[in-house]
Amino acid sequence: MKPVRRRFDALIIGAGGAGLRAALQLSLADASVAVVSKVFPTRSHTVAAQGGINAALGNVLPDNWHWHMYDTVKGSDYLGDQDAIEYMCRAAPRVVYELEHFGVPFSRLENGTIYQRPFGGMSQHFGKEQAARTCAAADRTGHAILHTLYQQNIRAKTHFFDEHFALDLIRDAEGHILGCVAFDIMSGEPVVIEAKTTLLATGGAGQLYRTCTNALINTGDGLGMALRAGIPIQDMEFFQFHPTGIAGRGMLITEGARGEGGYLVNCEGERFMERYAPHAKDLASRDVVSRAIATEVREGRGCGPDKDHVLLKLDHLGEEIIATRLPGIRKLSQTFLGIDPVEAPIPVYPTAHYTMGGIPTNRFGQVVVPVRDTPEEPVPGLYAAGECACVSVHGANRLGGNSLLDILVFGRAAANHIIGYLREHPYHRKLDEDSVQAALDRLQRWDRKGDGESPDALRSELRQVMEDHIGVFRTEEVMAEGLERVRDIARRLEDAVLGDDSRVFNTARVEALETENLVACALATATAALARQESRGAHSRIDYPERDDQHWMRHSLYSLLDDSLDYKPVRTRPLTVETFPPKPRVY
Ligand code: FUM
Repeated sequence: MKPVRRRFDALIIGAGGAGLRAALQLSLADASVAVVSKVFPTRSHTVAAQGGINAALGNVLPDNWHWHMYDTVKGSDYLGDQDAIEYMCRAAPRVVYELEHFGVPFSRLENGTIYQRPFGGMSQHFGKEQAARTCAAADRTGHAILHTLYQQNIRAKTHFFDEHFALDLIRDAEGHILGCVAFDIMSGEPVVIEAKTTLLATGGAGQLYRTCTNALINTGDGLGMALRAGIPIQDMEFFQFHPTGIAGRGMLITEGARGEGGYLVNCEGERFMERYAPHAKDLASRDVVSRAIATEVREGRGCGPDKDHVLLKLDHLGEEIIATRLPGIRKLSQTFLGIDPVEAPIPVYPTAHYTMGGIPTNRFGQVVVPVRDTPEEPVPGLYAAGECACVSVHGANRLGGNSLLDILVFGRAAANHIIGYLREHPYHRKLDEDSVQAALDRLQRWDRKGDGESPDALRSELRQVMEDHIGVFRTEEVMAEGLERVRDIARRLEDAVLGDDSRVFNTARVEALETENLVACALATATAALARQESRGAHSRIDYPERDDQHWMRHSLYSLLDDSLDYKPVRTRPLTVETFPPKPRVY
């Protein structure tokens, strides 16, 4: 049977904050827009963002976008591209006020302005006093934003392909991206979606790790699609571990808990962050706090019978603050631990949280493919935004609260660029049938049944390997073994089957396809991590403990098709202000 064919001006794959912000901008500009989402849009992972979105509004303490920019460059351990960081920090207030006008129910101060809380790594006056820059809707900010954007899109008549899984991009011989092939998860029917532009907004790959804050859907699908289309992905060695996941389980306890005055203690009751970050203490940057917790546990000062976690104390804040500012994490602690943080501390340990690397883009959201010694070239018709993209505003370590900002600023910027592109390219190009067929073949491959290993078992093994080998602290030996094991899983996945009983549901096919995407991301992450012989941000090597700007202030690029690594320079020149040169990074 021939697949259904649909045509749109713009295709967006992914319905989180980046995808929905872009879709809204495009629909309001009268473009025909399709959003493909493998889940119902309001189940996209943005819904899980807790603490808030950074913007220098100055509602609580004096603030300035330039201080925000400084903090972000320093937080990135100088690997972030300063043109994109300046653009993001300057755009932040406007993006937040737009959200307010769309109807996002932010928490409020007495005077009616948006409530802002302190978060890690943020400062006033270029590193001096703590700032309060994170605009919050209690501890459910992502939920408030995602639902508002979805409702605005419904009003703007964006077309949604709900519960459709995007298989692969359609690319013609000249390298133009022409849409994607997807399939309807309920019926199993493939659909070819032709578009003049395609925006990947599929989120991160947190499911690479056994213990993570991420939803089951975060399987690096856009990264897999880009890699199979021959596009290298950038800086995948930098994976963020959030300091406060519920110990042993991984669910997020927002940094906002420390922003509201919570603090960490070890088994001796010591507030140990005072030793690691004397100035910022519990509000140091995430990589610093995660390493501190892991060190306390390694050195025997962990809590509990197995001494395998530390405690986050909130009881001194009082019930009123916890009930109004942190109701979600109170509920999480009660549900998963039977602990009310009003009365007792929460056991926490670092948990995989955020993919700093991704599909390389410029600040207009265009996917750019760097070719050694030549300028970067946009891939015609292809854009990426949000966690699947690497623009790169987070460099080697993202600041809390900059993720919601990134998805909105660059979702919007990509849409604005697409509007211009559509004006100049009003017609669809001829569809490349070979490319369509290749995507359909990939789906058909998972009709294979019989005896053998299942993709599901291989996915579990992969997540354990990544957790054990490419974690908070890294060494050559441990990572090299991890990479070999990932390669072995990749080989075995080629022969895997869905089981020999006839009742194979489409959800099993989706899991198999997702596992292929995760394996591609794991290869990129392990390969780039093993190669980078320095410590920078979240990439912390025991055997190379120092940052090495002379050799390693550059972005990595991993290509799946020939399993190779390349590098490109960091864009150190901002748009209008002076460069922040690299300095030792202390908090
Ligand atoms: O801790 C948090 O609320 C997470 C925020 C973020 O990752 O930006």
